[in-house]
Amino acid sequence: MGEGTIIGPDTPVAELAARYPAVRVVLSRYGFGSYEDEEPPAGSVAGFARERGIPPERLVGEIERVLDLSRREPPPASFLALLETHEHLNELFLLHQEALLAQDIPLAAELLKQVSEGQREHIRVEEEILLPVYARAGKIPGGDPKFYINEHRKMIRILDHFEEMLPRLMDEGPGTMRRRVIELFDEGYWFKRLLEHHDEREESILYPVLDQVTTEEERRELLERCL
Ligand SMILES: [Fe+2]
Ligand SMILES: [Fe+2]
Repeated sequence: MGEGTIIGPDTPVAELAARYPAVRVVLSRYGFGSYEDEEPPAGSVAGFARERGIPPERLVGEIERVLDLSRREPPPASFLALLETHEHLNELFLLHQEALLAQDIPLAAELLKQVSEGQREHIRVEEEILLPVYARAGKIPGGDPKFYINEHRKMIRILDHFEEMLPRLMDEGPGTMRRRVIELFDEGYWFKRLLEHHDEREESILYPVLDQVTTEEERRELLERCL
């Protein structure tokens, strides 16, 4: 299966799952036990759908969404690209939570690693490259640079905590494991609220102000450094 392959009803499920582990999250929505040691189902996407009484097109659509995310090229050079980064990271976190829900801890850990690396790089870009330029705008109500920085610190603290907890889950017996998973969802709720609030502040203040205080040429140069 080459890069950018279009999937269809005849695509073998096992091949997809081997190449894109996050596809197992979709399969687990339809009752496929997504523990790592379980063999992916034999047969095609359509066969898998038929066995579970769901329309094959629906399954193809859901798998395509996950593949888009796994194959996503670096976003194009515009401030809009940074909004896409937010969306991309939020969707990855949801996939991580789905794997957690299916109690596929190795997959949840793998997806969390992608969330964490992506989030840290995005924060680095904002703090090292964008905030110094943003400072030109002077005082902005609700837009003090320290708000962004404090929220970034909180986000990193929570991600550190999640990354510490995930490997420990693998050593838990089934009795305590589910309870720990529930705790992670409770904490995940606050993480998502924090991100929602933070992204909103950036989308309504940081990015539009950056547009105002830069020339087009400078914007191009800055974005090149960001991406
Ligand atoms: Fe940020
Ligand atoms: Fe951001």
